[in-house]
Amino acid sequence: MIRSVTARTTAAPSVDPLTLRQEFPVFAHNPGLVFLDTAASAQKPRAVIDGLAEFYRRDYANVHRGVYALSERATSRYDGARETVRRFINARDTGEIVFVRGASEGINLVAQSWGSTFLQAGDQVVISSLEHHSNIVPWQMLRERANIELVVAPLDVAGGFDLAGFRDVLSPRTKLVAITHVANVTGHITPVDDIVTLAHAQGAKVLLDGCQAAPRLPVDMQALDCDFYVFSGHKCYGPTGIGVLYAKRSILDDMPPWQGGGDMIETVTFAKTIYQPPPYRFEAGTPDISGAVGLELALNFMESLGRDAILAHETALTEYTQEALNALPGVRVVGGGPRSLGVVSFEVNGVHPHDLATILDRHNVAIRAGHHCAQPLMDQLGLPATARASFGVYSDESDIHALVDAVRTAQTLFGCA
Ligand SMILES: Cc1ncc(COP(=O)(O)O)c(C=O)c1O
Repeated sequence: MIRSVTARTTAAPSVDPLTLRQEFPVFAHNPGLVFLDTAASAQKPRAVIDGLAEFYRRDYANVHRGVYALSERATSRYDGARETVRRFINARDTGEIVFVRGASEGINLVAQSWGSTFLQAGDQVVISSLEHHSNIVPWQMLRERANIELVVAPLDVAGGFDLAGFRDVLSPRTKLVAITHVANVTGHITPVDDIVTLAHAQGAKVLLDGCQAAPRLPVDMQALDCDFYVFSGHKCYGPTGIGVLYAKRSILDDMPPWQGGGDMIETVTFAKTIYQPPPYRFEAGTPDISGAVGLELALNFMESLGRDAILAHETALTEYTQEALNALPGVRVVGGGPRSLGVVSFEVNGVHPHDLATILDRHNVAIRAGHHCAQPLMDQLGLPATARASFGVYSDESDIHALVDAVRTAQTLFGCA
């Protein structure tokens, strides 16, 4: 059961992709575009593009430094964005929200600051077979530095998260469990509530990679009770270069800074520096002010549609796509099933995913092909690559019809129809 979702799934208003497309200028500038690569990065609504331009025109200055009105306005927008993020993920306080460049930087921050401070040789970090490279490589780097052990929880037979297998790999030496909330290759929703409960019972902390979840599911830090959560703004209809690390305040309080510079200090002498409390301690230098403002605009845009409505829309489209592709002879959905959201990977007999994506592009259908930054998962699935379609609030069934037609054409071209 997805605790953080079920509480809110009644009487949601619905998302209307056709009307919404008018809010995304990219579709007017690229007539006929069938954009099925939102898992890589979402297109931007007018509210974000225009709102950002307006911020630069009217309210822009550096933050936390000026005593003049313009800087105070910019600071209040920047601080306001942190409050919007807090509300979006239902964190307890804004001190738990650290602005980072994206999910990757958030995970690196945790590995370098918390990991280097609190983990010792022989301690275990448990990840799963479903992880994006961003939730593998930082832990391998920590293994080099601190001699920790990296343990990989297995897949079940359907290519999903194997809860029993996960339970088996936990041990008193497990100090951190770092797992994706929604897998970027298959869209698989991991059983995060059980993961958190089991990990905490072992005394381990939990980091959830919410990169593919935050744009699609209502996420609630207090209900999830995870220790760390990361996501990227650009996948939530916001700008690139901004993302969020959530961490429980008590944990952040004990973490040392990972980068030094302006803004993260209270006082500096040549002998000693006193650091700011969280979150500023982790935000050295001039922050991505406009990124934070853009993220706020994007999260407000999502809230205006309704998070439950987005979830219902993505769920329905995922099911529709799985059925449509599975119904095509010679096409197989990879690791799909009912617990998947927003992302559908598939293979077409006799057509390499890269060739497929190239042919689809000629039909104006943009999909992703490759290993999707999850090479260890590909190895386990015994596949060099997959084709991947992924959805946003502007995607609808007509996009899936275009996808299916273009796949059929590719099959004919390759003589495997
Ligand atoms: C599950 C997952 N984790 C992490 C990342 C990395 O995100 P970013 O490149 O925005 O840091 C991605 C990006 O595709 C992802 O899908």
